[in-house]
Amino acid sequence: MRNILVTGAFGQIGSELIPALQQRYGAEHVIVSDIRMAPLQSRVATERNFEHVDCTQPQQIIDAVRRHDIDTIYHLAALLSAVAEERPHLAWSINMGGLYNVLEAARQCRCRVFFPSSIGAFGPSTPRDHTPQVTIQRPTTMYGVTKASGELLCDYYAARFGLDVRGLRLPGLISYVAPPGGGTTDYAVEIFYQALRYKHYRCFLGPATRLDMMYMPDATRAMIELMEAAGAALKYRNAYNVTAMSISPEDLAAEIRKHIPGFVIDYQVDPVRQSIADSWPRSLDDSAARTDWGFAPRFDLASMTADMLARLGETVTGPEGRRAPA
Ligand SMILES: NC(=O)c1ccc[n+]([C@@H]2O[C@H](COP(=O)([O-])OP(=O)(O)OC[C@H]3O[C@@H](n4cnc5c(N)ncnc54)[C@H](O)[C@@H]3O)[C@@H](O)[C@H]2O)c1
Repeated sequence: MRNILVTGAFGQIGSELIPALQQRYGAEHVIVSDIRMAPLQSRVATERNFEHVDCTQPQQIIDAVRRHDIDTIYHLAALLSAVAEERPHLAWSINMGGLYNVLEAARQCRCRVFFPSSIGAFGPSTPRDHTPQVTIQRPTTMYGVTKASGELLCDYYAARFGLDVRGLRLPGLISYVAPPGGGTTDYAVEIFYQALRYKHYRCFLGPATRLDMMYMPDATRAMIELMEAAGAALKYRNAYNVTAMSISPEDLAAEIRKHIPGFVIDYQVDPVRQSIADSWPRSLDDSAARTDWGFAPRFDLASMTADMLARLGETVTGPEGRRAPA
């Protein structure tokens, strides 16, 4: 192993993937990059390990790869589903153009690539329950179009150029380190902050909207385990279905209420995000990931909720500035 480059590193995933990679491979082997500059008191980025890389600029990627002797790229830079629907042209440029530039840099410099696809790569004509690994993919959002096309491009580079590219179809991710970046499943993070602060949350998805979710420690572990798996065992080079729980806002609220009695959820449905959610699967079949490389999540709804409230309860305060009860 030489060195790892992470693009879009200051987002929701990168903020937890970087420390996990640094712990596993040594901080000196992980290069942090983003179109944003490193925050002044960043815990993970220093002058030596940070590169300003805009993924729509191919030369910036190649320069960073060569300068740091990179052999593995975790390509996280993208616009998420709700933002992509507001800015579809920019989403195509960043999500597709950025992936193409990363795959090209990887082809030229012989790097391995991790690509995060999404449940958004499916659409309304996909079977919504127990969604198979291989099935109809006709997404109706720009985000989904870039993820489904991105999966095809990864397959192409693997077949045509022998590139070692691996991917996951990630569900909505729940985490407490960095805020989510404008996705349809953001409610599942916001609800914890509002429950601790105000014992009240107004949800932008309807109560029974069931979607796949995963706690971030399971997601970062899955990415690293997939990248460490024996290549010969991997049947799919576009992306593997993975999930940990299939939950709705009312399920999550009921679980939070076990810790914060009196927590109230009400609903003001955002038609854009609701229609995106309604076009996505309710639960994925992740048996291919379990069989091919041993994927197994550790957190379910109950253990994720308990851990989120315990972690956030250390920093998030109630309206009067008192430590929130968790
Ligand atoms: N968070 C989730 O729930 C989720 C679920 C499924 C898939 N994913 C995928 O995982 C990846 C990372 O998601 P995230 O939640 O961390 O996203 P995020 O929005 O939190 O972070 C994305 C990062 O990319 C950076 N970025 C934007 N444009 C860039 C550019 N041109 N060049 C370089 N960096 C740029 C942003 O500054 C930001 O730090 C994305 O591809 C996303 O589609 C996320």
